[in-house]
Amino acid sequence: MSYLKIVGKRPLAGEITVQGSKNAALPILAACLIGEGPCVIDNCPRIRDVEDTLFILNRLGVGTKRSKAAVSVDASELRNVSVCGLQAERIRSSVLFSGALLGRMGEAVFPLPGGCAIGSRPIDLHLEVMRALGAHISIEEGIIHANAKTLRGCRIRLRALSVGATENGILAAVCADGETVIENAAREPEVEELCRFLVLRGAKIFRSPDGALHIEGKQPLSPVRFSLQPDRIVAGTYLCAVACCGGRIRICNLPFQEMETPIGILRKMGMDVDQDGSVRAELPLKGIAHLATAPYPGFPTDLQPPLMAALCTADGQSRICETVFDNRLTIARQLRKMGAHIEIRENCAAIDGTACLHGGTVSAPDLRGGAALVCAALGAKGETVLGGYEYIARGYENICRDLKKLGADIHLTEGITDL
Ligand code: UD1
Repeated sequence: MSYLKIVGKRPLAGEITVQGSKNAALPILAACLIGEGPCVIDNCPRIRDVEDTLFILNRLGVGTKRSKAAVSVDASELRNVSVCGLQAERIRSSVLFSGALLGRMGEAVFPLPGGCAIGSRPIDLHLEVMRALGAHISIEEGIIHANAKTLRGCRIRLRALSVGATENGILAAVCADGETVIENAAREPEVEELCRFLVLRGAKIFRSPDGALHIEGKQPLSPVRFSLQPDRIVAGTYLCAVACCGGRIRICNLPFQEMETPIGILRKMGMDVDQDGSVRAELPLKGIAHLATAPYPGFPTDLQPPLMAALCTADGQSRICETVFDNRLTIARQLRKMGAHIEIRENCAAIDGTACLHGGTVSAPDLRGGAALVCAALGAKGETVLGGYEYIARGYENICRDLKKLGADIHLTEGITDL
């Protein structure tokens, strides 16, 4: 097991450029299964979720080649319809292959997905979309079989907002006969990015003023080269890192527009964040009386744990309510080991910012929980030993490289430890 050693209380300084977006990369790589290839995806992050996705593509018979930050994907030899196997069970986005496979091959076999331990994460909405498009679905011993001779366009209203089910619906609908309308579709920037990629390839997709996505299926899709946007969650994590230990940095490619809500919250706490990516925090910052996570354009659930770390030492009482996932406040237990005063009641965390964080031995429970502990450790007195680096590597290309560039005392150690 690899672990991080972090010595805190050093204000950050310097400039970084953040990696390409994980949550855009995954559905776009799945979208490469459809139509003619090869497609080249630039700025594709070197993270474990992407490497697992490329592995799954290879197992399907899809050729992939990485050259620095560019990944080329050629699905012309696609021959397999099953995405079962270790990697598929490990990353939840393996479910995103189902819509694309169903559309292209008329069949998809995939496992009930894995992912972070942040809640029950059902896939009923994904299955509903596929059924609405005409697929027959059966589930046996944790394996899902979806079949459809032809997919037919339909009008479907998602019962709840879901990024993944919207993306899956789009991927299946571009292969369906006629028009599909997805009402109550998610509006996350990564959904928009998937649509931009498909439109560039020749798909007909537009969003009506009521937010519904209209997809005219069966348009021929051609190969393209496409560059991924910077990862707004990674950028947000580094903003939270500055909120934890203070300093003055610049994120050269800060996706400012897509981060209006989290930037608004950090500004309320007293941080300066400019459109050109300049960031400044003088500690202590102020707490936030009440904040609830919500689908875009609300406060992103993925930034809730890093923000919680920052609120542990922000003046006053703060309260965060998690409304997207049902088990995403567990990071409080690890933060308490570092001296944080956090009380959990149902889906809300009450944080008393009078705490002084100290180093300790903690373990990342999941991807963004791990990022939160890195932020907390940067603001804590003394050394923190942080296990579970494998979770962090799912979404951060090289958190050590980035934070070292900003002057942090952080090291990755490969080896076994009793965490
Ligand atoms: C995506 C992101 C993840 C982010 C999340 C919410 C990717 C690869 N991951 O995950 O980082 O935290 O959006 O912004 O893009 N739900 C159901 N039934 C379903 C599907 C979802 O009940 O069939 C529920 C989930 O349990 C959750 C809520 O809907 O409570 C939102 O989940 P969803 O938007 O689907 O998240 P993901 O697409 O998995």
